Order: sequence, then structure tokens, then C-alpha cells
Amino acid sequence: MLAELEELQSAALAELAAAVDSEAVESWRIAYLGSKGRLKGMMPQLKTVSKEDKPAVGKRLNEVKVALEQGFESRKAEVAGSGVTSGPQVDVTQPGANLPEGRRHVLSRTIDEIVDIFGRMGFTTAAGPEVEDEWHNFTALNIPAGHPARDPIDNFFMGEQEGSRTLLRTQTSTVQIRTLEKQKPPVRIIACGRVYRPDTHDATHYSMFHQVEGLCVDRGISMVDLKTTLFQFARAYFGPEAEVRMRPSFFPFTEPSAEVDMKMKIKGEWQWIEIGGCGMVDPNVLEAVGVDPEEFTGFAFGLGIERVAMRKYGISDIRWLYENDVRFLNQF
Ligand code: DAH
Repeated sequence: MLAELEELQSAALAELAAAVDSEAVESWRIAYLGSKGRLKGMMPQLKTVSKEDKPAVGKRLNEVKVALEQGFESRKAEVAGSGVTSGPQVDVTQPGANLPEGRRHVLSRTIDEIVDIFGRMGFTTAAGPEVEDEWHNFTALNIPAGHPARDPIDNFFMGEQEGSRTLLRTQTSTVQIRTLEKQKPPVRIIACGRVYRPDTHDATHYSMFHQVEGLCVDRGISMVDLKTTLFQFARAYFGPEAEVRMRPSFFPFTEPSAEVDMKMKIKGEWQWIEIGGCGMVDPNVLEAVGVDPEEFTGFAFGLGIERVAMRKYGISDIRWLYENDVRFLNQF
């Protein structure tokens, strides 16, 4: 019987080592250690062993049982993680795969920030079409027929629609007109969007770029409101030490008009940067949309979004913004 026990143990352990999943290990347990298993099956033989041999055989029987039980427990633990029967195998100690992370385009993020800052000052957003007619791009903005700004060399004319020539808008000031046609004062909006000009591409020029237009029309609006609004924007966007300067200028749709410079920190140095134009809405513009200039006044401004973003992020060539090279875009 001792010899049989040896055989049983080595056969059992060999079979156990070959059990690759928890199901196989469990069938092995039933076959060897179960109530009708092979080990129990040897019990009756004990009766046939002589009295002197009985203690030794009984001891050996017990040792084999313990060996099989221990083998079972450790094999069970081994195969548990392998999970052949419990779904796909995952090595939780492996470093994770680096999934490429997307992000919003630096210009989209700049627009979001601008909308957010003006939103806190009570400006809602407005929009207009990129293909415009001459009324909205010129006439209503006090740019009459024959004005040099209408020269085909400076505009992308498209064709005709309902008797009017169409063009890709050259400025978001069109949205001032579109808004005032629909909405009577008080009006306080900004409009961010694309504008188009036939410029030769270089580091600072592109035939398409973005502007943010602002318009505020109400009773008693003055130049002080304009400067305060631009100042608050500059501080919120460029930091608490930023400043705003207005230089007298001319735009057909504002009177008086000014160029807007903002003082911002570039590579550690404070610098004045020209970022757009502004002024008090010309009475002719208000009249064009049926608003009484004796009752209402307003201010308007138009800032270049690329100028703002390029300065803030130190981007030296505008073309990078449109080439969609992820090595560039990933930096922002
Ligand atoms: N539309 C002008 C441009 O594209 C910018 C501008 C200047 C907008 C003065 C305004 C303004 O609203 O008041 O150059």
C-alpha cells in the first residue's frame, strides 16, 4: 500500500501541475480529494494492513493527503490570476499604453477665453454669415459706393445674390449691422469669427484670420465705457499689470475712432502691441439700422484674435496656426 500511495502522490501532483485553469484544478480536487476521490478510495485498504504496519501506513496516508491539499491550494492561487476562464488576460503590472491626447486648437481656446471674459462683463455672443452682401460689409457701415475699401483688389467678391454682389466678409463689423437690424438697444454683444482679405501670406499676414467684434449701444454710452471695457479685458487676459492705450485714428463706422494698443509682457518685457481698432458708433451707422442717434449712443471695437494669441503664446509665424502640425499644436 505504501508503494501505491507513492504512485498516487506523484501521479496526482503531475496532473495538478498540468491543470492550467481553475476549472481543471477543481476537477482535479474532486478526482483526488473528493469524497469519492482516489485518496478516499484507498481507505478500505487500510483494514488489510497488518497491525504493526498500520501506524506507518496511516501516517503516510495522512502525509499524502496534506501534500495534495497544499498542492491544490497553491495551484488554485496560481491559476486564479491567469483567468483563462475569467475573460481576457491582463497583466496589471504592465505600464499603461500612452493614448494620444487631443486638445482644442489654440485659436479655439483663445476665442473661448475672450468670450468668457466679455461674458462676465455682460456681453452675449452674436454671429453672422461669412459670405456677406455689400450692405452689411460696406454701405450700412458708412462705407459708400466708390470708397477705396470696396476695391476688388482688397476683397474676395463672390458673385451676385438678389441683385447685390456678395463677398467673403472683410471684417466682423458686419455683425454690428446684423445684430442691430434684429435687436433694438440696449445691445451688448461680441462676435468672434473668420474674416477674409486677399493678403500675400507671410509671417504676419494670411488671407483668412479671426476678429472679435464688440458692440454696446444704450442711452448715455461714452468713450469712458469703451476704454474701461477694453482695460478690463486687457487685465483679465494679459494679467493685472496690463494697460490699454488709444491712439486717434479713422474708421468710417466710428467717430471718433482710435487704434487700440495693449501693454503686455512678452518674454519678460512689457511692450505696447497694436491689437485692433475702436470708437464711438458713427450716427450714420445707427441711422442705417433705424436707431435714433439722438437717443442712443454706442461704442464698438474690433480686435485681431491671432494677434492676441500669437503675442500671448509667443507664436512668431501666423501660418503655423493653420497648418495643423500636431507637433506645433501639442504645445498649447
Ligand atoms: N473693422 C475694423 C477692421 O477690420 C476694426 C474695427 C475698428 C472694428 C473700429 C470696430 C471699430 O468695431 O470700432 O480693421
